[in-house]
Amino acid sequence: MDYPSRVLARVDELAAGLGPSLRGPVAALAANPGKSLRSGLLAACVGDAPVDPSRMVRLGALVELVHLASLIHDDVVDRAALRRGQPTAHTLVGPERASLAGLAAFALAGTESAELGAGVDMLVSRTLSELAHGQLLDIERTFDTAYALQDYLELTERKTGVLFQMTCLLGAAEAARPEPEVAALSLFGHEFGIAFQVLDDCLDLTPGDLDKSVGTDHMLGLFGAPTLAALAADDSGALAALLLSPDFTSDDLPAVRALVQSSGGLDQAMELAREHLDRARAALDDVAEDARTGILAILAKVESRL
Ligand code: IPE
Ligand code: MG
Ligand code: MG
Repeated sequence: MDYPSRVLARVDELAAGLGPSLRGPVAALAANPGKSLRSGLLAACVGDAPVDPSRMVRLGALVELVHLASLIHDDVVDRAALRRGQPTAHTLVGPERASLAGLAAFALAGTESAELGAGVDMLVSRTLSELAHGQLLDIERTFDTAYALQDYLELTERKTGVLFQMTCLLGAAEAARPEPEVAALSLFGHEFGIAFQVLDDCLDLTPGDLDKSVGTDHMLGLFGAPTLAALAADDSGALAALLLSPDFTSDDLPAVRALVQSSGGLDQAMELAREHLDRARAALDDVAEDARTGILAILAKVESRL
């Protein structure tokens, strides 16, 4: 079995160990995996360093499990209907059960981290508390049409960047990379995470080929990078008026998209994603060749979505 398959099998195994009424939503999302981007990044950060293969599988499964738990929670908070082309956990079992299943998955990540030792537990728990803080900031700024793009980038760093950064740090530590490389990989994870989320926001405005709910965050007053950029550029106030209208429905989403596009908000956000990808790439100058090559391949895959 190759590394990605072994990681996914380990996530399944972990999910199966949860209590019977908690495992359903976790096992269902585990059985419908995404691109395994984070575990791929972990392996790339390790590169050719001599490591214990079974620990690598457990670490890969750990980052995928944290990601999975965060998605179950996020879909409750965002009231999203679809994830990876399938109905979200909360639509199937209700928000209470879905939240508790997500919580159980986070706790499972905690016990795995403790068993893996070597500082993994500290890194994971710090990351989880940042992630929760980021998600909270996301809720607190709902319907704020004047929310500054800079504040949004800080929020993004917390809700998305920290998980990429944690992944890179876990890989760097497992490979016993020297301090300058650890710092470079940490910076890479930070910048790559921000770019990834901004790009995700851009794709959220492009209906058609996504396998998750598209544009629906606008209904909750959650405006991504393109919309915030468009709002800042919109002197007429037409976009803010539309988004804040009490009669706003999903039928208005095409009009939102048109305004975000015509005001240059979408282009500005794409440019922002590109800038952060460039900074991520630049950080790799200080990373050894054996890791850099694999990480650059992952970066190129994400960049191709721009
Ligand atoms: C997800 O943020 C971030 C976390 C799960 C922590 P979003 O709500 O913007 O992402 P999608 O579009 O639902 O995947
Ligand atoms: Mg969401
Ligand atoms: Mg969200």
